[in-house]
Amino acid sequence: MTTITKLESKVKELSKLLGALKELNAAIDLQDISQGILDQMVMISEAKGALLWVLEKEKNLIVAKASYGIPIDSLPKQTLSDGEGIVGKVMMTGKAELITDTESVIDSSVAYPSLATTILTVPLQAKGQVLGAIQLMDKENGSHFDTRDRELAVILAEQSALAMYNSQMYDELYKMFVSMIRMLAEALDARDPLTKGHSERVARYAWLIGKRMKLDDQMCFELYQAAILHDIGKIGIEDRILRKSTGLTESEYELMKTHTEIGARILSAIQPNRFFQKSIDTAMLHHERMDGSGYPKQLKGEEIPLFARIVGVADAFDAMTTDRTYSEGMSVRDAAAELIRCKGSLFDTDIVDIFIEILENCSYDLRLFPNTDDM
Ligand code: SIN
Ligand code: FE
Repeated sequence: MTTITKLESKVKELSKLLGALKELNAAIDLQDISQGILDQMVMISEAKGALLWVLEKEKNLIVAKASYGIPIDSLPKQTLSDGEGIVGKVMMTGKAELITDTESVIDSSVAYPSLATTILTVPLQAKGQVLGAIQLMDKENGSHFDTRDRELAVILAEQSALAMYNSQMYDELYKMFVSMIRMLAEALDARDPLTKGHSERVARYAWLIGKRMKLDDQMCFELYQAAILHDIGKIGIEDRILRKSTGLTESEYELMKTHTEIGARILSAIQPNRFFQKSIDTAMLHHERMDGSGYPKQLKGEEIPLFARIVGVADAFDAMTTDRTYSEGMSVRDAAAELIRCKGSLFDTDIVDIFIEILENCSYDLRLFPNTDDM
């Protein structure tokens, strides 16, 4: 090869590499990233087949997450124990392995030894952690992988691993975030056993109303979050009022009402604030009523934000249908009739209509109420 054509092929390689990396960094879902990494790796290495293995830290297993040229479910082994096979070895040492004579190697992680004659295994590592490995099998043009292929694969793997690291980190942070919200709701349940489970149920009802209103997934999730935290301010209400099993006196009720402002104040502490603005407003305004008879601001109609109007309906319904020590829960049909009686005056008419439709769909049986599992 002349120097010019060498240079040209190098530039072509590099621009392919850059294009590949740009695409990877735009993705955030781990499955998308895994498949993306593998596809780019195949394109650049011109491999016939490829596998991407990911270490699942919690289970201490190495799992095949993506493949090219061979379906994952046709692999003899889709999971490896830590340290098993070439993949395990490469992940342990952090060094790429190029096997040019597969006949001589008996390895449980070789996907299709009958087909592959050369296998290049490179580690995926970022920030000092090994996250997985990629295996490339045979070249499309029949030639063998060489040390230049290995070098290129190692570079691409290093950059890809960073995208994977970010995605895993994002997943973990998201899980942590959701569980922190649940934890807050549980902290309230622990203070207030009379209404245990109330926050979770209200959140479920509100979420379903949002779905029926065709709010997008992100909005529905924010609605769920706002609803599960709507009464969080009750954490700041003293036990003698919070846990009182008989009706409250007027002055006690005035104190109870402050749970709205306390809730808004507690949630204002979370940063970044803009992610919680709707939750803050919902904690503050879920007792506002359409005719202005609610509290704490006596807002009317659409002055009350949508989420607060939705949670207002879900909250009233759950309060009516669950047993309190001082009152037995109403039947679902009676509670529905009460919502209908008060629609337009206390509750948003459209929201009540949607909720009644949902109740009809589950034949007024709360055990048939859809779950939020697919959130
Ligand atoms: C509640 O927030 O559920 C109790 C206060 C009220 O009934 O207004
Ligand atoms: Fe409340």
